[in-house]
Amino acid sequence: MNFKKELADFAEAQENEILVSPKSEMGDFCLPCFQYAKIEHKPPDVIANELKEKLFLKKNFLVDRIETIGGYLNFFLNKKMVAKKVLETKTDFDFEYKNYGIGKTVCIDYCSANLAKYLHIGHMSTTMIGESLHRIYSALGYKVVRINYLGDYGTPFGKMVVAIGLWGNIDDIKKNGIDAIQDLYVKFSSNETEELMEKARYASKCIEEKMGEEYEIYKIIIDISIKECKRIINLIGIEFDDWRGESFYDSQIEKQLREVESSGISREDSDGSVVVDLGIENLPEKVVKRSDGGSTYIIRDLCAVQDRFDRYTFDEMLYVVAVQQKLHFEQLFRICSMLNKPYASRLHHISFGMFSTPEGKIASRRGKQAIFVDIFNTALDKAKEVIKDKEFKFESKTNVAKQVALGAIAFSILKVERNKDKVFDLQSAISFDGETAPYLQYTYARCCSLLRKFDVMEKTNTGSTEKLEHIYETYFEIFKICNSFDQVILSSKEKAEPCFIARELLNLAQVFNKFYNEVKILDNDNYNLSEKLIQIVKMVKNLFEFTLPLVMVYPVSEM
Ligand code: ARG
Repeated sequence: MNFKKELADFAEAQENEILVSPKSEMGDFCLPCFQYAKIEHKPPDVIANELKEKLFLKKNFLVDRIETIGGYLNFFLNKKMVAKKVLETKTDFDFEYKNYGIGKTVCIDYCSANLAKYLHIGHMSTTMIGESLHRIYSALGYKVVRINYLGDYGTPFGKMVVAIGLWGNIDDIKKNGIDAIQDLYVKFSSNETEELMEKARYASKCIEEKMGEEYEIYKIIIDISIKECKRIINLIGIEFDDWRGESFYDSQIEKQLREVESSGISREDSDGSVVVDLGIENLPEKVVKRSDGGSTYIIRDLCAVQDRFDRYTFDEMLYVVAVQQKLHFEQLFRICSMLNKPYASRLHHISFGMFSTPEGKIASRRGKQAIFVDIFNTALDKAKEVIKDKEFKFESKTNVAKQVALGAIAFSILKVERNKDKVFDLQSAISFDGETAPYLQYTYARCCSLLRKFDVMEKTNTGSTEKLEHIYETYFEIFKICNSFDQVILSSKEKAEPCFIARELLNLAQVFNKFYNEVKILDNDNYNLSEKLIQIVKMVKNLFEFTLPLVMVYPVSEM
């Protein structure tokens, strides 16, 4: 039920004129009358009072009373009626906007890890935010294409090939996989000299031209790295539809460069590099072709976006990439618009701040620390410990531990606004108290347990339901949140902020637990009241079931 619309119809106003009252003494919603003053040539408070009289006669079952303060008309909802109505419409959660994006396609570029290195803590944000957005868009009916644009191109691979030649061997790499590769990469970095760099550049060139032993070694590295990436992605239960990485676009670079050059937006500098002047103050010009003829990150992105548009004709293209690449995406989008690409206005950089462990920044070059798998395994150990004394009848203990661990990590990221920096404190993230995933999972499991108990309740002692209306009033917040949750999901899509959903889930869990602690929901002496109250539990349970996965928290029916 859309209260604003109901009230607007009632007061013969526009929906956007009805506002949520800032304070409870000003009712639940209000209609400011200032905008009418000019038209009606009367002071706003006079208009508000006249409207109040008129509406008093008209009556609406949702509205308990109307008051005026200054030029404001304040509506106080009839909480009992509203609660009943919400229960009627929301007990079986049926997402109001499930067809919102029907017929539209969105591509989401996330994870997009640079290969031959560990997936580290920095990849967690892009993966969790991207996956959450995928779920939100899917819930809205969009067709979503999940793209893992692997970084499988450039000098890092040249360095790796040189390092393998100097200090490693292929058998060792085949045996020890990403660990061996990463160690060699670190070794290269700590021994880096101009001479070694020269060799690395040569090796990169061989890789680009797909020739020599260098290219063969490169293929082995890529193969191992992709397998490792897939293993981790699997571990956290997600999938991608498109794995085309940077190197896939190699064959299109020449054509893309010709298009840039022939459109007249670029110039060739004396050193042979090709540069685009973006024509906007504070937006630095961009090199699209290096002086040594090598391709650039941006030209590969230009090829990729064109290819994605050709393949999927997306309505939106989201790049879930750290805020450090803000300038890159501004430049990319600007070039698309200078090239008059039809999709230029459909591109969005969904940036995010840093996610770190308390030790501070993580760099893969520094070797083994805060690696994706390690973080996950540590969380898993902790989760196992937290639930070790619990007995499970309906869930497997192993699965619950995994879901608690995953939820704890994902929710630490998703509950905070994207662009804010976050510190991952495992101890508190895995706790059952506070603003955590396990807290939400616990609340959901509590609903499930209540429903199971209700199913086997004796129906003999019927009892009175007179307390019901008072309960509806006291825990009105539950109804308010359940009623407007669809809207929250829609706004979280609009701003690409999964935290809107996360915060509202925490609010709901909080009022629900208050209700649980203060009211005897299952009363063996009063079946009739229990039967009514269990409807509230059902409504909350169904809402959780649909919504928790949107923020990467898995509902477990027992905890
Ligand atoms: N591989 C890049 C990195 O790790 C991120 C790629 C983001 N996506 C893109 N289309 N540029 O920094």
